[in-house]
Amino acid sequence: MIIKKICCIGAGYVGGPTMSVIANQCPDIKVTVVDLNEARIAAWNDADINNIPVYEPGLGDIVNEARGRNLFFSTDVEKAIDEADAIFISVNTPTKTYGAGKGQAADLKWIELCARQIARVSTSDKIIIEKSTLPVRTASTLKEILKHTGNGVKFHILSNPEFLAEGTAVQDLLAPDRVLIGGEQTDEGIKSINALVEVYARWVPLEKILTTNIWSSELSKLTANAFLAQRVSSINSLSELCEYTEADINEVAKAIGTDSRIGSKFLKASVGFGGSCFQKDILNLVYIARSYGLNQVADYWEQVIIMNDHQKLRFANKIIKNLYNTVNGKKIAFLGWAFKKDTNDTRESAAIYVADHLLYEQAEISVYDPKVPEQQIYVDLDYLATRSSSENKQLLKIENDPYDTCKNAHAIAVLTEWDEFNDYDWQRIFDNMLKPAHVFDGRNILDKTKLKQIGFLVNGVGS
Ligand code: UDX
Ligand code: UDX
Repeated sequence: MIIKKICCIGAGYVGGPTMSVIANQCPDIKVTVVDLNEARIAAWNDADINNIPVYEPGLGDIVNEARGRNLFFSTDVEKAIDEADAIFISVNTPTKTYGAGKGQAADLKWIELCARQIARVSTSDKIIIEKSTLPVRTASTLKEILKHTGNGVKFHILSNPEFLAEGTAVQDLLAPDRVLIGGEQTDEGIKSINALVEVYARWVPLEKILTTNIWSSELSKLTANAFLAQRVSSINSLSELCEYTEADINEVAKAIGTDSRIGSKFLKASVGFGGSCFQKDILNLVYIARSYGLNQVADYWEQVIIMNDHQKLRFANKIIKNLYNTVNGKKIAFLGWAFKKDTNDTRESAAIYVADHLLYEQAEISVYDPKVPEQQIYVDLDYLATRSSSENKQLLKIENDPYDTCKNAHAIAVLTEWDEFNDYDWQRIFDNMLKPAHVFDGRNILDKTKLKQIGFLVNGVGS
């Protein structure tokens, strides 16, 4: 079994960069990325590489090299499915907003629709690869659907979860810590696993390609994210304790991180983690554990989310408290809206929740983010449905210039760790603010000593 043609359903933050790198590294494999969203496909095909829909450092060059050669973006889903030997499913799997498992379980509607479409149009045997994070045992659902609705065609299902982090996607894909491929432990299953191993082996050392049974692979993806998120919640829990004592969270993080058994990564205290995966995957884990009656396991992981919600609310309340317990009519400048730097993705960004809480207290917010489109910020707020869309537009303004954003503000809140924030002329910002001028650094990235010398009142997280 040799993979010569790949189709990927879903041209999002995962499908887009992952397929671009595969096409870039394997010029002899034809890779077609399809999506229902025509505007998104049009953006991937835009002649101006700056207009591709996902912002990731280095991605433009990769796409530029492969696009039109062996990398294609299309809305003709059926054609791409039928001609492919391997189909990656990379559609989104948001948390259910209705019915059983609302607020926790993943909505598998899209996955099921993809499976039915694949079954309907396929005329040759195919390897089906779960790329999206899915609840454990989704592969068996896929298998059922494909087996019973197909036209005699054989489907082999693999789980190949993506571990790329946004903002470093290209680097993570080019030099991954590991590639995980799970499949059925039968002769046919192992043949399919090997076919996919051959693809990655073009640029990933074999010892970094791990193969497992399919359930281990599915569960490993959820747990990898749960462990990472748990570290952030752990350090954030201590940040609150630091604020009540004389301890400084950055010093504590450094002290514990130098223990090689603990390690230094993912110990940065923050206003809270965001992104499309952490919360969703933990909720998934919690839901699965509870469905097996494992309440202690479920409660254990749920606490990671509770801590994160607490951290976001605590940050908003800290702003209010330090602004003399009222923010009504006060301008608060937000630097950053994305859930982390170097991405234009805002899913579950802490900024959304902090803004919502401040707006509830009738603050006026102005936002500057170097990469997030204006429209997205309103979409994020409107999605919470706390107030009407017109009220959101009235209370929150979006600026294209950081200096205008901070002008006449009572306070600045740093929500994303964009590097450029440190390079600003902070004296100029200070001169144009109302006094006393406050900075609330939700990412602990600014030079506090310098800001204090200028005259700012500075608060960080955990120090
Ligand atoms: C990621 C991960 O893949 C997934 O594990 C996680 O559940 C959500 O986040 P991502 O690529 O970031 O997915 O999602 P997104 O950027 O929303 O892209 C998904 C794309 O799939 C969208 O462009 C959507 O239009 C498309 N889609 C969705 C289809 O083409 N067909 C469908 O049936 C559903
Ligand atoms: C994550 C996983 O890292 C990746 O392997 C998986 O495939 C998808 O989910 P991503 O969500 O893109 O990636 O970003 P990540 O770098 O993990 O950051 C998640 C959130 O945690 C961000 O809001 C980030 O700012 C926050 N974070 C991270 C902290 O607050 N402190 C830290 O020390 C690290």
